Amino acid sequence: MIFDIISAIPELLESPFEHSILKRAIDSGLIEVNVIELRKYGVGHHKQIDDYQYGGGAGMVMMVEPLDNCISELKAAHSYDEIIFVTPDGQTYNQGKANELSLQKRIMIILGHYKVIDQRIRDMHVTLELSIGDYVLSGGELPAAVLVDSISRLIPGVLNDGTSALTDSHQDNLLAPPVYTRPAEYKGQSVPAVLLSGHDKNIDEWREEQALSKTQKLRPDLLDD
Ligand code: ADE
Repeated sequence: MIFDIISAIPELLESPFEHSILKRAIDSGLIEVNVIELRKYGVGHHKQIDDYQYGGGAGMVMMVEPLDNCISELKAAHSYDEIIFVTPDGQTYNQGKANELSLQKRIMIILGHYKVIDQRIRDMHVTLELSIGDYVLSGGELPAAVLVDSISRLIPGVLNDGTSALTDSHQDNLLAPPVYTRPAEYKGQSVPAVLLSGHDKNIDEWREEQALSKTQKLRPDLLDD
């Protein structure tokens, strides 16, 4: 799967893809992450990419022309399954959306900075607007990293153990059950005996019960869906 990410500050996206699971996924060709620097498409001598807002108001707006030129060039070169704008006023991103997007071949992710982007870019190019939660970040780089990470781990081969993404929290609308590793006893706290029993059926049942009771307690809204 290929992610083409348009960013005003590409440096903010250097580290997330240079370590651990995502680095291995890139090195083995399972995913490709291209970060395109918007400034290259800036207008005039100063390569301007933002300007004041018509009608007045605080904060700068990312200009239509640099974004349009960048997006149009990418669209002319490749076909996109989805052109995503990450924004706090988009629909809330969740595991279901991650599952859907993991089936796509190539997506573009447009990142805002400063205040927001000119509405015409949203009207002309964007096919999906996603928010990673009801809070406001300074830019779209962290949300983009969240998208790439959560989608990539669902692509077959990215995780060593093919089943482990399926047991993540949220995959069944349930939070994941507690997990333990050695030692079996630590500062008077012991690992539940069933996990040491070697009895697979009992262990599965215990995990299901734990997932359900944890979800009922912490996120009852998930059980309404
Ligand atoms: N940009 C700024 N805040 C954001 C959020 N919560 N989700 C997605 N993009 C954002």
